[in-house]
Amino acid sequence: MEKTKVAIIGLGTVGSGVARLLLDFGDRTARHAGRTLWLEKAVVRDLEKARDCDLPEGILTDQLSEVVDNPEIKVVAQLIGGLEPARTIMLQLLESGKDVVTANKALLAEHGPEIFDRARELGRSVAFEASVAGGIPIIANIGQCLSANQIQSLHGILNGTSNFILSKMHEDGSAYDEVVAEAQRLGYAEADPAMDVDGTDAAQKLAILAHLGFGARVDWDDIPRSGIDTLETADIRYAEEMGYKIKLLAVAQLVDEGLELHVSPTLVKAGQPLAEVGGPFNAIRVDADAVGELLFYGPGAGQMPTASAVVADMIDTAVGRTGITFSTLELWSNRQARVAPADYAHACGRFYLRVTVDDSPGVLALITQALGDQDISIASVLQHEPAGNGQPVPLVIMTHETTAGAAGKACDTMSQLDCVKADPVRMWVRD
Ligand code: NAP
Ligand code: HSE
Repeated sequence: MEKTKVAIIGLGTVGSGVARLLLDFGDRTARHAGRTLWLEKAVVRDLEKARDCDLPEGILTDQLSEVVDNPEIKVVAQLIGGLEPARTIMLQLLESGKDVVTANKALLAEHGPEIFDRARELGRSVAFEASVAGGIPIIANIGQCLSANQIQSLHGILNGTSNFILSKMHEDGSAYDEVVAEAQRLGYAEADPAMDVDGTDAAQKLAILAHLGFGARVDWDDIPRSGIDTLETADIRYAEEMGYKIKLLAVAQLVDEGLELHVSPTLVKAGQPLAEVGGPFNAIRVDADAVGELLFYGPGAGQMPTASAVVADMIDTAVGRTGITFSTLELWSNRQARVAPADYAHACGRFYLRVTVDDSPGVLALITQALGDQDISIASVLQHEPAGNGQPVPLVIMTHETTAGAAGKACDTMSQLDCVKADPVRMWVRD
């Protein structure tokens, strides 16, 4: 059988899973690719470190040149996280004639234009299914299977770590810090888990989907975002009391003005499919004009789900499918954007507000005044009987539909009030 020599750069959580699939299930990949994907080299920094896979002798190396200078290696899975040396290595691989597969969304979101331009100039391809939503084949679906549609909106749970943390907080009442450590131990989190919990990782993935699905040209850093790192267990309990679950939701939605984009913790009505996505799972609801509503669901992080997406890309690349789609996608090309980002301040919806206030007369009037001044109507107010020890009390307000701009201004005004003891917590509500 024909043999395509491949290599892996980075043998951490994902890289080890890729090596296991290639080595332990070589017959399966050969059947699907019509050729053997032969793992020739795996490049790491530290040769002494224990690996989560058994490699035959001669494969492990700490010399990138053993890949770059070997013209027989055609396809390389670049599975190093972060920006550097990942960017430099990516360009070196392309320059040396390799087609590259990656799971590194931070790299694509930050340096996509440079990397994709160079790949196009060199006649090479970059496949990146694993960069968004782990094991869910969302890139192939949006890039190819839905190409007869105009996508109207995407609502996604795109960060497995945040979803794992939120699920544990909802289900077991676990403390935030404990669950972050568990997510790291289980291999879900980024090397810097702050990127998972502050909304960065989800915004980077959303930027990739916005390019692919809407022809937008957005910089991930311009996407308004907040993470789950400012939430308290109390927010989880209040949401439950009102019949909601909190999810870190990434939204891309066509509106009259353009493409609305944001990432934020959101109260999703219990029973809605997105509310019931638990653990490190991801889900993306896609609304498209011809097909209607689709829901993609599956493991969004972790070794083997991510490796599944990487190896599928390696097969597609080896048989030439990636090369064809890569050149027609024109991702991050100079082609004019099909849609401009809409002003976030105009995004419409309901909001959950938790305001920590003095337990004293007239306070509620000041808070409702701040909302009324922005034309925000209150749908409900929740305040539990205080402990009576003079401590500030949380006031939970659900608004009727308003705009992100008005909610933001009302919160700014509240923050200035003497009776408000901390910046108000603000989340979107999806019924
Ligand atoms: P990881 O466990 O930290 O592994 C990274 C690997 O890169 C390590 O093996 C490290 O080598 C290697 N490395 C770093 N610098 C290197 C260099 N200069 N030369 C050679 N090797 C180098 O990370 P991961 O979780 O596998 O994630 C890899 C990428 O996949 C990231 O971009 C991440 O965002 C993405 N991703 C991860 C998941 C997930 O669930 N983990 C899911 C989807 C996407 P040493 O071991 O020798 O230090
Ligand atoms: N850290 C990422 C997450 C890995 O938790 O979703 C998958 O991209």
